[in-house]
Order: sequence, then structure tokens, then C-alpha cells
Amino acid sequence: MSSPIIVFDHVRKSYPLYQHMKGGTKHLLFHLPNVWRSIKNSTYEVLKDVSFEVKTGEALGIIGRNGAGKSTILGLIAGVLKPSSGKIVVTGRISPLLELGAGFHPELTGRENIILNGIILGLTKTEIIKKLDEIIEFSELGEFIEQPIRVYSSGMLARLGFSVVAHLNPDILLIDEILAVGDLEFQKKCIDKMIGFKKNRVAIIFVSHSISDIVRICDRVLWIENHTIKILGEPPDVVKSYTS
Ligand SMILES: Nc1ncnc2c1ncn2[C@@H]1O[C@H](COP(=O)(O)OP(=O)(O)OP(=O)(O)O)[C@@H](O)[C@H]1O
Ligand SMILES: [Mg+2]
Repeated sequence: MSSPIIVFDHVRKSYPLYQHMKGGTKHLLFHLPNVWRSIKNSTYEVLKDVSFEVKTGEALGIIGRNGAGKSTILGLIAGVLKPSSGKIVVTGRISPLLELGAGFHPELTGRENIILNGIILGLTKTEIIKKLDEIIEFSELGEFIEQPIRVYSSGMLARLGFSVVAHLNPDILLIDEILAVGDLEFQKKCIDKMIGFKKNRVAIIFVSHSISDIVRICDRVLWIENHTIKILGEPPDVVKSYTS
């Protein structure tokens, strides 16, 4: 039995809900305790009481409607967000692909951004230079690799991002819906790469609105609805309930 590499234990995440303050500065000063209490109590719960575990080599799919809390879960795993309460334990190197163009600089070329992104994601300069040709080849960006990425289309940015994370050496791979903007051929290439990662015991957390990709890759599926877990189970069962 492999041990869990990600543990969410009664995790909640809320954001302050900003309200327009009536009465101006004078009201604020004279009613400070009340105003403070109302600000403190106005929170918006993005995740409510979420508990699950992911084991080494397991692929977990996350599905649900827009705004349900899927990307928030990935942000919490990556450590870019902190839970409001509950406990999160993540043991292992993470390769995150959370947002189109995240960690890239618009004025640098594709080639320069690969180096920058590789270093941000924990490789040494020597390691990334060694992998550079392979990453560029995988991206199939051709001569665009020498262009600043501000001229890239969304699909080209996704190609660049995935090509970098696909050549890191992670224990956990986080993919947030990025593949959807790639063309069919590149999507297939990414899916094959993810299946390869799985064979090498990399844990994958895959957020997608493509049910067929989820079923293809994932061992279990987490359906998030109304900011909490609706079902966590075998892909065919969860997908059947979700789509009906
Ligand atoms: N920084 C923030 N401050 C306040 N609310 C936020 C913040 N970030 C996200 N939210 C809210 O949290 C909820 C969940 O957002 P999240 O991005 O996790 O949804 P999602 O399931 O990934 O949706 P999608 O399918 O559209 O990508 C949304 O209602 C969103 O408005
Ligand atoms: Mg999202």
C-alpha cells in the first residue's frame, strides 16, 4: 500500500466579502467595533470542509461547475493559497500548470521563458539548459520560440507551459484546464505524456471540463459542487451522476 502524498483534512477556504461602508470616515471612527465585527464576519466560503487523500502514482480528476472551487483546491495543494482552517499535508516536488502564462514574462522569448520558468520551478540553470532542446522540440513552436511571448496565441502559451512542466521531475503534477486551448494533436500528446507520468508513479491532479479526458486518465474523480465534495469515487460512477 502506498502512502498518501496529499492529505486534505477538513479544509476550509474563505475570502473577506468587501461591502461598501455606509456613513463615511466619521461613522467608521465612532462605530469602530461594530464596523470591524461586520467586516470580520462578512466572508465568502469558497471551500467548505473538504477532506480527501491522494496516493503516490494516483491520478485524481476534479470536475464541477464554474466557480465551484476546483482551482482553489489546486492553489492550496501548490501552496500559493493558504487554508482558512483545516490541515493540508503535501509531501513531494510539485510541477504546477495552473494558469496560462503564469511564471512567464511577456517581453522575453519562448526560449528565454523556458529557462526562467524552469528555474522558478526548481531546476538549476545547468539542468534547464540540458533539457532546453528537448522542451523546444516537444512544444513544436518552431521559429516562434525566438519571439517574445506577448505575440503568442493562448494555445501557443499552453504549449510552452506544458512543455516545461512535462520535462521536470515531479512527484505531483497539477494541471488546471490549460490543455483545452491546445489543438487536438497537442492535447493528445499531453494526455500521452500524463499517462507516461502515471506509469512512473507521479501523482496527477487534473482539473478539466473534458469528461472524456478525465475518464481516460483518472483513477478517481472528485466532483465539487457548492464549494464542497459532492461525490468522490470511481470515474464511471461520478461522471454518470455528474452528467445526468
Ligand atoms: N481571491 C479571491 N477573492 C475572492 N473570491 C475568490 C478569489 N478567488 C476565487 N474566488 C471565488 O472562489 C470561487 C471558486 O473559484 P475557483 O477559481 O476555485 O473555481 P473553479 O471551480 O476553478 O471554476 P472554473 O471552472 O470557472 O475554473 C469563485 O466563486 C470565485 O469567485
Ligand atoms: Mg478554475
